[in-house]
Amino acid sequence: MATVMGNVIVGQSGGPTAVINSSLAGVYKTARDRGAKKVYGMLHGVQGLLQEKVVDLADHIKSDLDIDLLKRTPSSYLGSCRFKLPEIKEDTEIYDRIFAILDKYEIEYFFYIGGNDSMDTIKKLSDYAILNGSKIRFMGVPKTIDNDLAVTDHTPGFGSAAKYIASITKEIIRDGLVYGNQSVTIIEIMGRNAGWLTGAAALAKGEDCEGPDLLYLPELTFDVDDFMKKIAALHKEKPALVIAVSEGLKVADGRYVCELTDNVDFVDAFGHKQLTGTARYLAEKISREVPGCKTRAIEFNSLQRCASHIVSRVDVTEAFQVGGAAVKAAFEGETGKMIILKRISDDPYLCVTDLFDVHKIANIEKKVPREWINETGDYVTQEFINYVRPLIQAELTAMMVDGLPRHLRLED
Ligand code: F6P
Repeated sequence: MATVMGNVIVGQSGGPTAVINSSLAGVYKTARDRGAKKVYGMLHGVQGLLQEKVVDLADHIKSDLDIDLLKRTPSSYLGSCRFKLPEIKEDTEIYDRIFAILDKYEIEYFFYIGGNDSMDTIKKLSDYAILNGSKIRFMGVPKTIDNDLAVTDHTPGFGSAAKYIASITKEIIRDGLVYGNQSVTIIEIMGRNAGWLTGAAALAKGEDCEGPDLLYLPELTFDVDDFMKKIAALHKEKPALVIAVSEGLKVADGRYVCELTDNVDFVDAFGHKQLTGTARYLAEKISREVPGCKTRAIEFNSLQRCASHIVSRVDVTEAFQVGGAAVKAAFEGETGKMIILKRISDDPYLCVTDLFDVHKIANIEKKVPREWINETGDYVTQEFINYVRPLIQAELTAMMVDGLPRHLRLED
């Protein structure tokens, strides 16, 4: 194995996942094992880097036990950001500043763990490096619970969020059926404009669980009146319903369902609206219009992306592997690429890592194919379930201290 003596920097960006720190562990351990002189972490991604918020990770991750704890720690250990770099031709000054800081720390390899927007950062930085004769290699490490990155079979973070969603949906269904009175429980699931996570609620269905009654994905326009009619029809057969809706559902005029409420809009640097309130809006509508029907809106919110006590071992392992594969590729001279996962077979499940041009991945949202949603637009098909099922397999036991999972915290 060729050893490399350059310095490495790694950052995390975008929304966290339960396994994003496993990718950080993969980058850190592989870079150290392959001879990197120093491995730095940027705090709060590129935004923090611009303020030179950089730590030497060896001062913080001191042992193999720390690496094991890091893998089991939810959220982004280094902190995150939603920071959009300008187009290179619009503002070179910000790029000059970033490269001056990278040169100061003698960085030769730059790794960014993130989703769509973070791959936009890798794309721009690697382009700038080529345009300006910099030798620094830039590599994207995929992550997002939304599973909406193009080209890769799936993204690390998705499997664990799917496992949590399916598990807790089973529990909510058991709870929702106790009284035998008319009720509707609506669960709201993240994923922005892609329905991968909402579809994963269907995995709750099995020998011991009837599964949710309806699932609504943002790939299809949502019709509120049709939804109300379906509830009325289902209520004739069973009193208690559990329905999963995506936070990103839109009505025919293009507005998000959650925009039909009086929510205050929060928009991030990439122009993404904070999506919250779809379940509440629908539950309140049912309460108003269906006399005697009890409703409950349950927004999974950040719980679905930080539940590290129930990660999928497949996911946590792959998250580590993509980090390691990014380091190997960059050390071999690659730049402007993202690591992808390629599924070789479903049964037995087999997936390998590969490399792909980040320009063909950044800023593209991969949606659930229409043929994986049923004809009536209110459930996913068996193909969808077959695709997700391998990704939620096996567990990684938390390290319990005093009855609670132990995490690794970045000390000041
Ligand atoms: O992109 C991941 C994600 O968790 C989306 O599913 C969600 O819409 C968004 O992040 C929430 O972002 P934030 O944590 O910045 O509010």
